[in-house]
Amino acid sequence: MRVILGVGGGIAAYKAAELARALMERGATVQPVMTAAARQFITPLTFAALTGKKVITDLFGDRTADEVLASSVEHIQVARENDVLVAAPATADLLAKFANGLADDFLSTLYLAFTGKVVLAPAMNTQMWLHPATAANIEKLRARGHHIVPPGSGPLACGETGVGRLADPARIADDVIRIGTGKQDFAGETIVITAGPTQEAIDPVRFISNRSSGKMGYAIAEAAAARGAQVILVSGPVKIPPPAGVKVVQVETALEMKDAVFAHLEEATIVIKSAAVADYMVENPAPQKMKKTAARMSIELSPTPDILAEVGRVKGDRLLVGFAAETQNMISEAKRKMETKNCDLVVGNLVSQHGVGFGSDDNEVTLVPRGGAPVPLPRASKRIVADQILDHVLPLRLALRSAS
Ligand code: CTP
Repeated sequence: MRVILGVGGGIAAYKAAELARALMERGATVQPVMTAAARQFITPLTFAALTGKKVITDLFGDRTADEVLASSVEHIQVARENDVLVAAPATADLLAKFANGLADDFLSTLYLAFTGKVVLAPAMNTQMWLHPATAANIEKLRARGHHIVPPGSGPLACGETGVGRLADPARIADDVIRIGTGKQDFAGETIVITAGPTQEAIDPVRFISNRSSGKMGYAIAEAAAARGAQVILVSGPVKIPPPAGVKVVQVETALEMKDAVFAHLEEATIVIKSAAVADYMVENPAPQKMKKTAARMSIELSPTPDILAEVGRVKGDRLLVGFAAETQNMISEAKRKMETKNCDLVVGNLVSQHGVGFGSDDNEVTLVPRGGAPVPLPRASKRIVADQILDHVLPLRLALRSAS
């Protein structure tokens, strides 16, 4: 998807850099356009470096008359070449220009020439946002079919606290992709996704856990919600914010994760178990902090329930996706887990590789479908890998549904 990122002149302009990144992580190409005011807040170089594109800043600028003539149709060309125009931060001034058809710089001229989908993410001082003039402009733009990503509440740069903060860049990016593709291929599906590690207490201050960051499961949850699924994300303790539009159930232990999964199993049509569940737990954690002694010590561990295998036994026509994070023999291990846990698809990855797997932003996985040949996916951001996994999940789910 090709996206024009129109950056307005507000303090939130720096967050547009994060938005550029979030859009690219979701597979979009981004053409930045900055207003003169935006350039007072952040330099074009930031956007050029992030997107690899020449940043368009001005209709005329410092250009010679010849250069201006040569590029006199640049706004028309950019308008033609792109699918979505997102303005972030959409200042009160930009909204007023767009609403009233003013065309006195590149971005406002481009807006008039643009026939694709428009997404506006306003950010401004609370009083400016609440002003009847801004409200009327928003109404006009909405009536024109444009999508408004509402600003959030909180402390603002002007020192006040109230509504007017630019929405979370990840949320804006999701909306842009959803609106741009119009792809709601998971509408009607309810997906239970588990993510992150579990923590098994030894005593009130110590626990057994693993290095899972939850990023892969969260990326799948975000991608599935953006594609129209109802998502229930059962999450172990992680340090990342929950994706927009997803119901999050926080758990700590394998037993709690099992209860949460089974509590939502009835409504699920797809279960994706990306969590790295601890295999062992301390059956009776010490009620008080255990004290150091000079002697050696050992802790007796008992196995946790295998949640995936238990779901596999009662799965019915639900599509069941397991994960196999391995340090060796990835394909044979994935196939073994497919059989023992009754999965339809296992996502295998070698967590020992540098730059992919636990904690990384990228992943490189191989999909092992039941009865089919393994499909290696290229290394990419977890968000892109998430969409590719879902691209393979959908036909399997449709086949299961029509067979039942
Ligand atoms: N899993 C689970 N409950 C457990 C352990 C694992 O639901 N108690 C799920 C994981 O969420 C994952 C899949 O089973 O989808 C494989 O997890 P993994 O840890 O790779 O496999 P194990 O069965 O624990 O096997 P091993 O540790 O021997 O590799």
